[in-house]
Amino acid sequence: MDDRRIGVFDSGFGGLTGLRELVRVLPHEDVVYFGDTGRVPYGGRSADTIARYTAEDIRFLRGFGVKAILVACGTASTVLGRLGSFDIPVLGVIEPAAEAALAATKNGRVGIIGTAASIRSGAYERALGGKCETFAAACPLFVPLVENGRFRRGDVVIETVAREYLEPMHDFGCDTLILGCTHYPLLGEIIADILPGVTLIDPGAEAADRLGRLLASEGLETSRDGDGSVEYYVSDDPEGFSRLASIFMGREVRENATKVEI
Ligand code: DGL
Repeated sequence: MDDRRIGVFDSGFGGLTGLRELVRVLPHEDVVYFGDTGRVPYGGRSADTIARYTAEDIRFLRGFGVKAILVACGTASTVLGRLGSFDIPVLGVIEPAAEAALAATKNGRVGIIGTAASIRSGAYERALGGKCETFAAACPLFVPLVENGRFRRGDVVIETVAREYLEPMHDFGCDTLILGCTHYPLLGEIIADILPGVTLIDPGAEAADRLGRLLASEGLETSRDGDGSVEYYVSDDPEGFSRLASIFMGREVRENATKVEI
């Protein structure tokens, strides 16, 4: 048993989709969440810059003495291999998503969507290890559209953009699609309308499941049995935190976020 907290971070608020899944899998754990809102988005930056930011995010969370870190950000997860090893589990979303995609695909064709940096990194293809055919597409407009509330079915703007991004996926004939960015699970219905019958993989959910199994196998679960708490930190103005956080958590978030320099 280990009652230390779990650290979760993202480039901003999108990682709250991963936090939501973590709370589902591990409801008793206390969590400290960091959103690097002062430097978001990561998805259009170079691998070197993303690696530097990611190392700083991890160092910040380690300052809380956390027992494990979930890297909820798809883009940050692509650079984890460059950062060496850690003496606590630091789990990204790439490998759990790849494993789930390989388990799900029947026709051996897996699509991958993500930020420009994630797609450029080739991290998902490496994790899939040549065990299936892949087709990857960057969808850079998805993040700002979702953050501006344009993620609901019937919204002609997001539906038009999504159709344009996903049409090649349709031609590729994938039966499984990795939603390789924190914001994309919110577009699940729209994507399913465009790619009917395709299994959508939510990397945050897969990573949360894997972290749950890991804590259990290492004896690192909390001994507490009440609802866990979440403490939120951001690197820029916490104004508007509740509104955006509520979108990504899928429920009303009443807690405030504390602004920090990292
Ligand atoms: N959180 C990022 C990701 O999952 C999306 C936002 C950004 O570009 O920073 O890739």
